[in-house]
Amino acid sequence: MIPDTITIVRRLNPEQLMEAVVDHLEHRLLNSIEQMDFCPLGLATGRTMEPLYAALVARLSAWPGDRLQLLRQRWLSFNLDEYVGLPPEHPRSFCSFMGRHLARPLGLDPSQLLLPDGASEDPAGAAARYAAAVSAAGGIGMQLLGLGSNGHVGFNEPPCVSEVRCRVVTLSATTRKQNAPAFEGSPNLVPLEAITLGLYEILAANEIHLIVTGASKSGILRKTLDRDGDPNVPASWLLRHPRLWLWVDDAALGEEGP
Ligand code: GLP
Repeated sequence: MIPDTITIVRRLNPEQLMEAVVDHLEHRLLNSIEQMDFCPLGLATGRTMEPLYAALVARLSAWPGDRLQLLRQRWLSFNLDEYVGLPPEHPRSFCSFMGRHLARPLGLDPSQLLLPDGASEDPAGAAARYAAAVSAAGGIGMQLLGLGSNGHVGFNEPPCVSEVRCRVVTLSATTRKQNAPAFEGSPNLVPLEAITLGLYEILAANEIHLIVTGASKSGILRKTLDRDGDPNVPASWLLRHPRLWLWVDDAALGEEGP
């Protein structure tokens, strides 16, 4: 049974869905600017997020100049994860992804969009420093999440309990295959490891927004909604969060509906 604490927003297609997500994000960002209380954003990468960031950039770019300037001054975001071994300037790093899709189009200073240091000689130390930075900033306000084809969130691969913290993880064969299109279609070119926020930090966010589009995700979404805290489906731990929004298009939800 799906807990009634979840807000499900369903739209016909990804375009309409992203407009709905952006309505929510814009409202929250406006409030936080007016109240001078900017909670760090938790951001994700991946194909699901590309149309979302495009819609967000279009919406925020239309803000009056002084308001946009305030947003630029206050912006602080933490990404979920980064590949180990890719320097920030590598075109396939998540750092590059964020520069392309969000920082440059919005005129944000890249130093305000934080990601784990995948190029560190000491990835475990980099993970610990990243967790400390999230904690020093007061934790995450709104956390955006995509859904991995094996049920991972961030790079929290199955099996995975809800207490795991920011750490270095070995990527599964399924995940390397899922992310191969960004690496010339070759799973072997996808890095073997990543640094990811753990479910602990993700579940500590004030709000969680799980965004799922496309028929290829309908099976794993169904599984996620059917379980309650199943280590084999890491995303199912999200159902225990008191403020979870599930944003889905028709294709991802399939025929049956929630
Ligand atoms: C990736 C990322 C996740 C992302 C998910 C879904 O591996 N680590 O943060 O949300 O898998 O990716 P996509 O949106 O490309 O399907």
